[in-house]
Amino acid sequence: MEKSNKICSIRKSNRRDSKQSSRLVWNVNIKKGKIAMGDKSFIEVQFPVSKISKESYKERKANLGQTLTGLGKWWGRKPLILVRATILGLLLPATDNPVKDREIYLKLLTMDEDGLLKRKTKSLSTKDIYRLLDNTEKEKYFVIDDKGTPKYIRGIKSEEKQELQKTCFNRLSYDEKIKLCCRPEELDNVLSKEEWDDINNYLGTNADSLQSLVNELGIKKFGHTPIVGDCFAGGGSIPFEAARMGCEVYASDLNPIACLLTWADLNILSKSDEEIDKLREFQQKVYDEVDRQIQEWGIETNEEGDRANSYLYCNEAQCPECGYIVPLSPSWIIGKGTKTIAILENNGHSGFDIDIKQGVTDQEIKECEKTATIKSGKMICPHCKTETAMSVIRNDITNDLGSKVYGIRKWGLNEFINQDTDILKQRLYCIRYIKKTIDKNGNEKEIRYYKKPNNLDYEREKKVIELIEKKFEYLQKNNYIPSMKIETGYNTVQPVRERGWMYWHQLFNPRQLLIHGLFLENIHKLSTTIDEKIIGLLGINKINDWDSKLSIWDSYKGCEIIKNTFLNQALNAPYNYGTRGLKSIYTSWFFNINNKVSNIITAKKVKNVDARNVEDICDLWITDPPYSDAVNYHELSEFFLAWDKKIISEVFEEWYTDSRRILAVKGSGENFNNSMIEIYSNLAKSMPSNGIQVVMFTHQDVKVWAELALILWASGLQVTAAWNIATETESGGLKDGGNYVKGTVLLVLKKQNSDNIVYLDELYPEIEDEVKFQIDTMRDLDDKEDPNFTDADYLLAAYAASLKVLTSYKNIEDIDVQYELSKSDSDGESPIVDIINDAVKIAFDYLTPKGFDSYTWKTLLPEERFYIKGLDTEKNNVYKLSAYQELGRGFGVNEYSDMMANTKANKARLKTASEFAMKYTNDNTKFGHSILRNILIALYKSTKEEDATKGKAWLRNEVNDYWNERSKIIEILDYIATLEYIENMKHWTKDAKSAKILVELVRNDGV
Ligand SMILES: C[S@@+](CC[C@H](N)C(=O)[O-])C[C@H]1O[C@@H](n2cnc3c(N)ncnc32)[C@H](O)[C@@H]1O
Ligand SMILES: [Zn+2]
Repeated sequence: MEKSNKICSIRKSNRRDSKQSSRLVWNVNIKKGKIAMGDKSFIEVQFPVSKISKESYKERKANLGQTLTGLGKWWGRKPLILVRATILGLLLPATDNPVKDREIYLKLLTMDEDGLLKRKTKSLSTKDIYRLLDNTEKEKYFVIDDKGTPKYIRGIKSEEKQELQKTCFNRLSYDEKIKLCCRPEELDNVLSKEEWDDINNYLGTNADSLQSLVNELGIKKFGHTPIVGDCFAGGGSIPFEAARMGCEVYASDLNPIACLLTWADLNILSKSDEEIDKLREFQQKVYDEVDRQIQEWGIETNEEGDRANSYLYCNEAQCPECGYIVPLSPSWIIGKGTKTIAILENNGHSGFDIDIKQGVTDQEIKECEKTATIKSGKMICPHCKTETAMSVIRNDITNDLGSKVYGIRKWGLNEFINQDTDILKQRLYCIRYIKKTIDKNGNEKEIRYYKKPNNLDYEREKKVIELIEKKFEYLQKNNYIPSMKIETGYNTVQPVRERGWMYWHQLFNPRQLLIHGLFLENIHKLSTTIDEKIIGLLGINKINDWDSKLSIWDSYKGCEIIKNTFLNQALNAPYNYGTRGLKSIYTSWFFNINNKVSNIITAKKVKNVDARNVEDICDLWITDPPYSDAVNYHELSEFFLAWDKKIISEVFEEWYTDSRRILAVKGSGENFNNSMIEIYSNLAKSMPSNGIQVVMFTHQDVKVWAELALILWASGLQVTAAWNIATETESGGLKDGGNYVKGTVLLVLKKQNSDNIVYLDELYPEIEDEVKFQIDTMRDLDDKEDPNFTDADYLLAAYAASLKVLTSYKNIEDIDVQYELSKSDSDGESPIVDIINDAVKIAFDYLTPKGFDSYTWKTLLPEERFYIKGLDTEKNNVYKLSAYQELGRGFGVNEYSDMMANTKANKARLKTASEFAMKYTNDNTKFGHSILRNILIALYKSTKEEDATKGKAWLRNEVNDYWNERSKIIEILDYIATLEYIENMKHWTKDAKSAKILVELVRNDGV
């Protein structure tokens, strides 16, 4: 014990020294008249999580309009604004003027008031302007017409209207504002000379653009343009944004398709207009050649000269009960908008004709909904009504040894269509054609119509099969279509087991193979530059994503469209699917640049290497590892790789062309942990002593946190801050179990240089200090008008605080990191999990709601604190179930469903006193007998009988030791009384009013 005490005290004094010395640095710098860098970055001290969450969410909601999504599919791309905010936060120094630091930071991100105005692209409606003005202003600018609509008074100049737009815009909340704005990244350097003067004055720089500022900050901190590295680059968000901001970048990924996308982000998006036009010309040339050939073959145009743009196929299988051949589809509705349905009719030969009917009634649509022939994995025979599991139809059986044997026939390398004897057979049942006509004004018009295929259509279908048959060997030999075998894995086993598809080309039907192959052939033949080859590959990948046997047909109103293969993160083949005619491949093939990107001029490297083998040195490593990530990148991407192999190997000699599955970091467990340690130890070495890392991961349960922390610690890194960017989704509920908080955590890390060793029990007081310090700092920094932090953020800060303390030591005597990381779930709780949970408890005790004396707060039962904190949450207009789940965990309250009036993911709230009424008072829970519960009853009675003396009587009779508990009762009632005027808590108004009266009665009681 003596030894450890000594170590502990040495350590403590070290800590104090380092805190003091950093303050000294700032003071000295300030005295010199310039605020130079402290040793901390902005992101290590503060981060505007609320605004960044909102901007990230907005970016993600833009779907295909995002800057990088147009280049091709990758799973889990990080929002660019999040990356930009992170890099800026790493490069900007934290000074002793955090308010000004934040002002400068937000200005640079155009997330301050002026920046938002600059980004405003939509106007407020006249109605909204009127709503946002005060009465005097309303009178000054508006009249109300006969219909009660506000109208501008006559003679208002357009400048005045502009001014009103501005005034009213500034009155909106952040959420409302950004709805009218473009994204920060869509504007290039919009700051004025004055703004730059302000920034330069403060930072001691001489910049006139984000790029030049980044460069200067890099020179100050690292002696050169900052180098940002990402060894899990994926779709390339991190390196792309870093390069766009003016950093040098190193990007690598194990997966060649990820590298291809990252390369394209960095090299294609910043091309000049002329270069882009040239690429487009190339795309057009390929497209025209494909079109010419298709027309020559005559495989898409019908006898009326109309061109097909979609083909619908289904599978058929025999009903084991009655022997009928049943066409399979989960829905026979073809279009809810065009009111088109398919109708199955007994053909008299143990099978069904499929008729197509357009313009049917709503009733017919409704009827059609009931005709599904496949539901929850079961075939429903329209003839004998028998339901048979598809696994039975496929003859999947369990053998004597207890293992599953899959009955479907496995396809050979040269096969591209099912055989007549197969269990599942494909059938074309509907075609959508486009008819070109001239309307009465003489304009060209397109009419789309659906049709049951006729004999000539079947002839064309046959021709497609003959063509592919003839060309098959040639196409495979030249790599114009894939010949790669599907290696089984978690996702890739599905097409093998359920369809017998053993090779990647079998995920495409003859028509798709023929056309996509024709594209690739022409890319090979017509491309003359690397850029053309790459743009060609991006196009091929998009075509494949949007047109495969895994592309479902979407019949929803306003859609009636073929969806993409990777609508989900799996390889499940639907029973019916769509196939595109060339005309509807157009949008996938032509690559659209959503955003013009100014030239990326800094150095950039893209390598196709395993993260374990990174050799480059970077100042800042920002990584988003596949950590407890459900996506099997290495498997899914082979869908693309099978087509891309040849060109990739031609263009990028050093890249390989398999997905190196064995090296992919995935899942969890000891192997995974060891790979991660290997990778992060290497990264820790691959940065200068003042280098910083940010690791992004999805915030899940404490266990995931604890494990990641151990990994990073074991890699020689130390946590300096953590922030959560919320991206919560609607799904999930109380039953959902552990993983409910959806959001990205940024863990900020630096090199671990300490030699100090400590015992676990000595850490607690230090963690307590750190948790409180962290919460105080956040509270001080928080914007009172526009709060940045919610309780969830404070709790996360507690997680982070415990890890900060823990990882600041070289070693904890009684924690065996290797052992902890090799432990399985059943080996019991890890001490790190305990530490984090303790930190959370400290935070909960410390996070006293406004109006509560901290002593009284501590004397409340956990259930009472849970309830009051829940009210506090609602007061902040937060209705997320996850917030209650966090509270439950923090206070150690497991059973709170009785307290909830609603448990929906985004509508969760507690019962009011009146909603509780007299329920659950006689149960044996502590809450049922608590003072708070009695107060709620007193309120219920006061409200119901409109007489607060009834409430007082209840309290006097029911609360043990009423007189001594009176001050607690008063505090709680005072608190509840504050709910009376909360805009979003109207359901509390009456009870809160009762509280206001009752509290006075209690206060004056006995006086
Ligand atoms: C979560 S994703 C990164 C997404 C990326 N941040 C983005 O915005 O698109 C993780 C990446 O790690 C890659 N990966 C998996 N194992 C790897 C390894 N051993 N070395 C390098 N990269 C690996 C996967 O291919 C995947 O692209
Ligand atoms: Zn049947």
